[in-house]
Amino acid sequence: MSWNRKHLLDIESLTVEEILTVLDTARAFKAVGERAIKKVPALRGKTVVNLFVEPSTRTRTSFELSEQRLSADIINFNTEASSLKKGETLKDTARNLEALNVDFIVIRHSASGAPHFLSRVLHASVINAGDGAHEHPTQALLDAFTIREKKGRIEGLNVTILGDILYSRVARSDIWALTKLGAKVTLCGPTTLVPRVFEQMGCRVTHNVEDAIREADVINLLRIQHERQRKSMFPGLNEYTSLFGLTKARLALTKPDAMIMHPGPINRGVEIDSEIADSSRSVILEQVTNGLAVRMAVLFLVNGGKGPQEVAPQ
Ligand code: CP
Repeated sequence: MSWNRKHLLDIESLTVEEILTVLDTARAFKAVGERAIKKVPALRGKTVVNLFVEPSTRTRTSFELSEQRLSADIINFNTEASSLKKGETLKDTARNLEALNVDFIVIRHSASGAPHFLSRVLHASVINAGDGAHEHPTQALLDAFTIREKKGRIEGLNVTILGDILYSRVARSDIWALTKLGAKVTLCGPTTLVPRVFEQMGCRVTHNVEDAIREADVINLLRIQHERQRKSMFPGLNEYTSLFGLTKARLALTKPDAMIMHPGPINRGVEIDSEIADSSRSVILEQVTNGLAVRMAVLFLVNGGKGPQEVAPQ
């Protein structure tokens, strides 16, 4: 187990050993979260800025609670009330925050590459909380953690990612993480949103939903990312649901233990039937719970922690 990185920018550049170090460290932090006292002093005296320049519910609150549990001081940057609105650049904004002796910047931004850019111009550690359609590394790590926890392994599993792959940073990070860990990844959705070029990432591509879900051990659904689509990629939501939505009829075609995942936010009745989202087959809220332990692990590791062996013993 080892970790020597100052930043977490993507999954693409991580080794299998580094991914497993995060997952094992997260498992130790999940155990800490089940104790009466859930706080540890790992980041005491350190300051974290949550620089979310794009909306977020799960990732932002999960990072904030992770930072609190690690005893960090926290600045939640309010984009709408900031001088970004007066034309200040991202670089100047970040360098001014760093001038306050900030140690970590957690950034979500609509521009792909924004976290990589900041990592080159700042001294602080940078953690990518989602950049454009590029990557969402902590989502992939919590997805991998959840699959391993529920299925006992990742290697050899059939994982289907169904939906808008083209505009999805979750899809890209999940593909990197799951293929590195030995899963067989199938991508499915409309031809306009699931081009065959993704085969170059080691995935199977199909545009037939029944073919995609029949043998799947895990089905990870993605919403249509309207905010990133510059033109209409399919005729309408009703057609999307009828061709690719996970309906009860389609669920009946899947293996009885096929697990349903979704990074959220979900669009009920579009990519997923509302009852399926709330059913025992769905682990959507468990993914959110696991995100806390995974983000604690990431912050702990980029702060110099080496692995699970260094997480506070009981
Ligand atoms: N999964 C995810 O990134 O959700 P948020 O956009 O709410 O953070």
